[in-house]
Amino acid sequence: MLKARLIVDRDFVLSDLDRRMFGAFVEHMGRCVYGGIYEPGHPTADEQGFRGDVLELTRELGPTIIRYPGGNFLSGYNWEDGVGPKEDRPVRRDLAWFSTETNQFGTNEFMDWSKKAGIEPMFGVNLGTKGPDEARQFLEYCNHAGGSTLSELRKTHGYEKPHDIKFWCLGNEMDGPWQICHKTAEEYGRAALETAKVMRWVDPTIQLAACGSSHRNMPTYGAWEYQVLEHCYDEVDFISLHTYFNNNADSTAEYFGVIELMDAFIKEVVAICDAVGAKRRSQKRIMLSFDEWNVWYKTHKIEHMRKPGWPEAPPLIEEVYNAEDALVVGGALIAMMNNADRVKTACLAQLVNVIGPIMTETGGAAWRQTIFHPFALASKFGHGRVMRTVVDSPSYIAKSFPEIPYLYATVVDNPADGTTTVFALNRSLSDPLEVEVELRGLGKNRALVGATEIHHSNLKAVNTKDAPNTVVPKENGDVVVDGETLRIKLKPASFNVITTKAVH
Ligand code: AHR
Repeated sequence: MLKARLIVDRDFVLSDLDRRMFGAFVEHMGRCVYGGIYEPGHPTADEQGFRGDVLELTRELGPTIIRYPGGNFLSGYNWEDGVGPKEDRPVRRDLAWFSTETNQFGTNEFMDWSKKAGIEPMFGVNLGTKGPDEARQFLEYCNHAGGSTLSELRKTHGYEKPHDIKFWCLGNEMDGPWQICHKTAEEYGRAALETAKVMRWVDPTIQLAACGSSHRNMPTYGAWEYQVLEHCYDEVDFISLHTYFNNNADSTAEYFGVIELMDAFIKEVVAICDAVGAKRRSQKRIMLSFDEWNVWYKTHKIEHMRKPGWPEAPPLIEEVYNAEDALVVGGALIAMMNNADRVKTACLAQLVNVIGPIMTETGGAAWRQTIFHPFALASKFGHGRVMRTVVDSPSYIAKSFPEIPYLYATVVDNPADGTTTVFALNRSLSDPLEVEVELRGLGKNRALVGATEIHHSNLKAVNTKDAPNTVVPKENGDVVVDGETLRIKLKPASFNVITTKAVH
């Protein structure tokens, strides 16, 4: 039996956990909007055409903030196309995904949908084909109370009150040559600075995120972040990170290394941001917005991203997730929680159909993919403050990362209700892991609130429309609570969430 220890102490708190870490992403891509969240005529659709089954699953998934409207789509988007009477909206060719965009869903529909879903919106401004002028006008349309042409236009569209959108992304993946109107770091840094300035003048209450590298393997990674922040450090609050994990090597043991790489990625970007801050002798710290992350590799070829003939809402990158993907998503959530002092917002990309935790059949059913479950558990139990953890665990050697401890864990303590939750991944594929957890000083007399595991003997098992409950969370009966110590047995290749409460 493998054994590990996990120790936390009441006095050693890493950070409050920003609930915006449990965000998601809705892009005008494939069937995410059309046929996903919006499908007039669907049996569950409401009077606005929002699918009721998807709304229900979204609430169950528990995202706190949702990024919209892209993604690569953002870099060619005219926000004006998606507001006002639907019959007057133009039909456009979207050059990001070679699709036809009908604009029947736009900003105001997204705001209405957000309210029904109970999420905060995170909007992006187009810094590809557009720039500062369009960004300030869009912000004025959305957030200005009234008395200007654009705010009055919003009112004529039926929205008397401003939307008050607080979080704005300054473009998307502007370092990527695939981006519509890709920019160099110099060009983008200047554009981000000037856009941020005018947007803040329109609404000083907003938070702004500059684009970091599209992923850690970009040749300009590191230099891009540094150069961009040299321009806009004083005007932005966040820098973005994007990552998509793959198991191209078809080795689960190697695949688990991507979680360590995500942690390294976060720490590297923090170091770069702080280097720019240090050079400026600035007290300000830039926070991280991990606003695209997920598993995506089975549908990563170009034929999954583009369909011929400019179709409307074609099925694009509809990745089917298996049990090992759910474990990696669980591990990624632990990695972000363990960096909660700097990662304040994050978005699982995307929400529905397009690399989505929720899948739908057009005109038919909706179901939960395997990755739905670790995300829903993290959002449900990730409240409060993240503790500093000391982990003592056996490990294994891999090519993807030099040393991978079998135990990967975080502890979130919630003073509001007295609960403490352990999130733990056992990365051994063959052995159970016996973990002794010491919750020092968090209450001598503890009671078990619940213990849930995600585990399947077949790591390639998937959920489908006809078998939607193949991989689901189950109770873990192997937890003993003894004072402030927990003894937990984790199944091989399992993601676990154990909540206890101090009782007096
Ligand atoms: O999420 C799919 C795409 O991946 C997004 O549009 C883009 O930002 C990223 O490259």
